[in-house]
Amino acid sequence: MYYPQYRPRRMRKTDSLRAMIRETHLQPHILVYPLFVIHGEDVRNPVSSMPGVHQLSINHLIEEAKECAALGIRSVLLFGIPDVKDEAASSAYDPEGIVQLAIRALKEHVPQLTVIADVCLCEYMSHGHCGVVREDGCIDNDLSVELLAKTALSYAEAGVDVVAPSDMMDGRISAIRAALDNEGYSDLPIFSYSTKYASSFYGPFREAAESPPQFGDRKSYQMDPANTDEGVREAMMDIEEGADMVMVKPAMPYLDLIYRVKTETRFPVAAYNVSGEYAMVKAAAANGWLDEKAVVMETLLAIKRAGADIIITYHAKDAARWLAERVSAKSLGDER
Ligand code: PBG
Repeated sequence: MYYPQYRPRRMRKTDSLRAMIRETHLQPHILVYPLFVIHGEDVRNPVSSMPGVHQLSINHLIEEAKECAALGIRSVLLFGIPDVKDEAASSAYDPEGIVQLAIRALKEHVPQLTVIADVCLCEYMSHGHCGVVREDGCIDNDLSVELLAKTALSYAEAGVDVVAPSDMMDGRISAIRAALDNEGYSDLPIFSYSTKYASSFYGPFREAAESPPQFGDRKSYQMDPANTDEGVREAMMDIEEGADMVMVKPAMPYLDLIYRVKTETRFPVAAYNVSGEYAMVKAAAANGWLDEKAVVMETLLAIKRAGADIIITYHAKDAARWLAERVSAKSLGDER
């Protein structure tokens, strides 16, 4: 098609005209803020590779959650750092485990916030893998799935709003769905990390969650970064098994997957803007090499434009603040 009269710059002349034809909009309620909870009384440990992110004891966790709610962020994603790690991940499904305690505290003190709990074993295993390691060094899929289902159920019993399995074992969604349904939690949604790659962008997270694998890597369960059809297949399988929402992780280097998973499943799709993506922006901004606010907003917009309905990001609080600033600048007549 050729439109000889069409001059795109006519509609780029003022902010009002640009806003009129803008196709993608960010709102704080699509953002999910990850939180790391740790035992202790008054702990607020900075994560060195993720400026602005801390391991928080429950009193500080509640403060951060309240701050999120005040900024218009409506959900948080919880990760736990347990006191005890072993080869059965027993702290993951301990009714008095750190995540279970945090869920109860958040539901009591910030009830308006949706609490999503990450379901995985790596933080709770002495070897740091996301599943049970057999004597031959392989990860035992079905034993891992049993423990994951037990963990999800335990979070449900603590009052969580949504469970988010991130382990990448086969068949975990149907096992978790069955475990929840059998115990009366048939209305509890599952948010599946369906399309999760064996990425090098998770390094800073593993510092925050104290969960790096002590030997080997995660390539036997997380996906090969070279594959796209497989990423779509993983999402479709999880939907068939009962997932209510699916996810692509990481986000920025995998925008093609966000697009395909959205167009091919037509299900709610989240993108996880992971720790390494956050660390890169923070490092460049600290050096004065990038304008942090502009780059973050462009990044989040691009992730949404690719097809993400939900964005999990460590930038959530800043982004919500910047979105609010933008609205008040406009209402004051600032048209730039
Ligand atoms: C646990 C888990 C990881 C992340 C989320 N859940 C780490 C991993 O798989 O090694 C990474 C999040 C991030 O990098 O921000 N399995």
